[in-house]
Amino acid sequence: MKKTADMYLELMIKTLTNEVYGDTEYAPIVSNRFISKLMNCTQSMLGFRLVRKQGFDLEKRKKGLDWPPYAHTMVGRKRLENIQFCAKSVLGNNVPGDFIETGVWRGGSTIFMRAIIEAYDLHDRSVWVADSFEGLPAPNEELYPVDKGDIHYTIDELKVTLESVQDNFRKYDLLDDQVKFLKGWFKDTLPKAPIEKLAIARLDGDMYESTMDAISSLYPKLSSGGFLIVDDYCIKTCEEAITDYRNEHGIQEEMIDIDGTGIFWQKAP
Ligand SMILES: C[S@@+](CC[C@H](N)C(=O)[O-])C[C@H]1O[C@@H](n2cnc3c(N)ncnc32)[C@H](O)[C@@H]1O
Repeated sequence: MKKTADMYLELMIKTLTNEVYGDTEYAPIVSNRFISKLMNCTQSMLGFRLVRKQGFDLEKRKKGLDWPPYAHTMVGRKRLENIQFCAKSVLGNNVPGDFIETGVWRGGSTIFMRAIIEAYDLHDRSVWVADSFEGLPAPNEELYPVDKGDIHYTIDELKVTLESVQDNFRKYDLLDDQVKFLKGWFKDTLPKAPIEKLAIARLDGDMYESTMDAISSLYPKLSSGGFLIVDDYCIKTCEEAITDYRNEHGIQEEMIDIDGTGIFWQKAP
């Protein structure tokens, strides 16, 4: 049984990151210039799309260093394997609680969390999927001056609708009542989310505000022995949010690097 579960999860990683078909990827040509938008519009009315061949680099994809045109996650193999590592630890040690990701894009990491629950035939844990489903917020410079000038909110590629994420879950036969969606800005949804306990909290919101809002609401619900994962620790503002929160709350647990981009730590038992 264990071998079958591991094989299933390995196949999920290959599929979710599109390692399998990466070398045939074509990226849509996106531009904000009026003339390009007009061309794109005309072409799509005719059933065409302007694309360019994407130079596929497997090593980059493994480390989640490119923005894949089709894959359901941009976090790459190593950070998915990190989720698997944390999940095996909490399941092996009976650490209570659900799994959550804040900032899901096309849903890939949360689909993987749900796949882990499926692989181990668990019926008492859920996966929480938290996102605005309309991209990042414009920086709130008054409350969070370090986010000043952040342009993530202007990036259309980061806006993926709830329906489209649900469709992605469905493609893997993993959409059911063990998947719970929290739609809206983290500052509004997370403080009142009906989550009792968490075993894994994965933060992937890119900005100081998004990271701080997520950790402030979720860390108190993280069980001892559970894991806090930060996808964007390589982003200065995200690192600052984590440092501020750890200092304010006297968190001493050692942070472990995942792949040069993300980090994680285990809440002391
Ligand atoms: C880099 S993407 C996440 C990538 C994803 N984890 C994956 O597996 O590919 C960042 C996501 O965070 C969401 N986001 C960032 N800040 C947010 C906030 N404050 N409230 C709600 N959603 C937010 C964006 O909508 C976007 O989907």
